[in-house]
Amino acid sequence: MYRSLLFFVSARLRRRGLLAGAGLLLACSARLAQAAPPTDDSLYQAWGGKAGIRAVMDDFVPRLYADARMAPFFKGVDPEHLGAQLTEQLCQEAGGPCRYTGASMKLLHADLNIQRRDFLALVEILQQAMVAQGIPFRAQNRMLARLAPMHRDIISETNEAPAAR
Ligand code: HEM
Repeated sequence: MYRSLLFFVSARLRRRGLLAGAGLLLACSARLAQAAPPTDDSLYQAWGGKAGIRAVMDDFVPRLYADARMAPFFKGVDPEHLGAQLTEQLCQEAGGPCRYTGASMKLLHADLNIQRRDFLALVEILQQAMVAQGIPFRAQNRMLARLAPMHRDIISETNEAPAAR
């Protein structure tokens, strides 16, 4: 499931000429729900620190709410709170001086019945926001590599098609 998801994301984005898929696949080859902690803050710096991450989230969150595939999931969710929590989380994932103190990915997404295609749609939208905010190519891929393993805690296991495993 894990490898096929990454191949799918990579192939999709590569078709759009936007991603060097090999880097993402290599970086994500571990079968872990949580990527190992970052060893330095180079990704954080490449994103322009917390302000840079916040700028991408301020671009990303409205795109999510405007997307017909995503909007039903986010009905009634406070966009300001979502943006702030995502900023903390990505800041931490990038090796920045932040601590994400929100609920676990598993708990937050447990009742949402999120499918593989939903996860991929969110990645696609995030990618659009990163491009719009001028995040360097390699830094886009490095962040995606940190987020991709979370699919194990986010996608609803009970509804996955056997072929996707
Ligand atoms: C790597 C991918 C993802 C990450 C890093 C992520 C991260 C987060 C974080 C940090 C929150 C907490 C926000 C808060 O406390 O208000 C959250 C909430 C939420 N996420 Fe995700 N998420 C991901 C994928 C998805 C997907 C694919 C969907 C749906 C298609 C989704 C739907 C939601 C919804 C609806 C909430 C609000 C839950 C609530 O307030 O009860 N997320 N997510």
